Amino acid sequence: MNEVFADRVVMGSEDRLAEMFGGSLGEDGIKFSAGNPNAELFPIMQMKKAFNKAIEKSGSQIFEYQTVSGFENLRRRLAQWAGQTADIKAVADNILITQGGQQALDLIGKLLLNAGDEVVVEAPTYVGALSAFDQYDPYYYDVAMEDDGINLEQLESVLQAHPNIKLLYTVPDFHNPTGVTLSLNKRKKLVELAEKYDFFILEDTPYRDLRYKGTKLPSIKSFDRHGHVLFVSSFSKILMPGLRVGWVVADKEIIDRLRKLKTSSDLETPGIVLAALDQYMEDNDLRKHIEGMLQTYRSRLDAMLAVLDETMPADVHYTRPEGGFFIWLTLPEIIDAQKLLSEICIPKDRISFVPGKVFYAHRNKKNGMRLNFSGVNEERINVGITKLAKSIRTAIKANEVGALL
Ligand SMILES: Cc1ncc(COP(=O)(O)O)c(C=O)c1O
Repeated sequence: MNEVFADRVVMGSEDRLAEMFGGSLGEDGIKFSAGNPNAELFPIMQMKKAFNKAIEKSGSQIFEYQTVSGFENLRRRLAQWAGQTADIKAVADNILITQGGQQALDLIGKLLLNAGDEVVVEAPTYVGALSAFDQYDPYYYDVAMEDDGINLEQLESVLQAHPNIKLLYTVPDFHNPTGVTLSLNKRKKLVELAEKYDFFILEDTPYRDLRYKGTKLPSIKSFDRHGHVLFVSSFSKILMPGLRVGWVVADKEIIDRLRKLKTSSDLETPGIVLAALDQYMEDNDLRKHIEGMLQTYRSRLDAMLAVLDETMPADVHYTRPEGGFFIWLTLPEIIDAQKLLSEICIPKDRISFVPGKVFYAHRNKKNGMRLNFSGVNEERINVGITKLAKSIRTAIKANEVGALL
């Protein structure tokens, strides 16, 4: 049957995103595998009012076709938001509103990548970005993540060896999947490298405003002088993912080209959603809403770190994020996290996590796992991580006696 499909469909046949969500846990299973915000924190009443008000204001016109670039007023707000939260100088013409950050990743892939074009990604990296870029058949160079972000020495030697690299994809704030934040120094250095080797940086940062401790850092884009950085963010984690609204900040020339690609794909983002979102931001203080969520997430992060500290064996390592949704745990190399999940954690413990392999462009590492803390309460974090630690010890012992897991 494959002959009838375009090459990109066949190439994308190993569905990276689908791979992430395998296995059923039953009703009271504990899911550390999700990437969702906590739905209990959604401002439902305020959003309902905003939708109603948007409909009352514009009547049937709001259900008409609107404009592909998205409401000017909302774009103006987003330009201001980018200034206040990420130190970016932007106006409405520098903003493209997209259907979630995910569409922005796809459109940027479409804009920049011919088959075989060279892209640098972090190892590990956000699986949805790999899934979006896969459609354009690039070649990936992956560069290791350190505790303060991408390894710059390794990056520079890749750039020296491959002068045609077009794009670097990075998640600088509370990285998905590792939770790591790129240091200030490395942010500046990345822009210098982009200027020196002439490539684009895609700064993808949906978790940026979800900082629970430590000091806020300027965005990479704030150091950009010559238009090398495309900044992408989203309302999914700070408000509600079901709105499906994200945005790009870039030079007008890039935005105009991205808009053309978006028109070909979906004509526009639903006007009613954008009008309601604009109304929500008019009537509510989004910063206050975000601040209100931080305490819940901070407490869950602290609970997970505390139980990891208490229970994990010494040869298991994990990151200590200051925000976002995820902690990354590294097992001894001999242990395959996928097998641990499917042979012990799902059937016996009824807990889940995302095994690390899907987050590597070349799927060449199997001993990492992504743990989500934002969607599980403290009590269940304690129960789930204690079980996980026990199963990891069992797996390590089994390997010691030669019964490879
Ligand atoms: C790093 C990163 N980028 C982009 C996205 C896409 O999010 P959305 O399309 O909901 O804005 C996600 C979602 O999990 C993410 O973690």
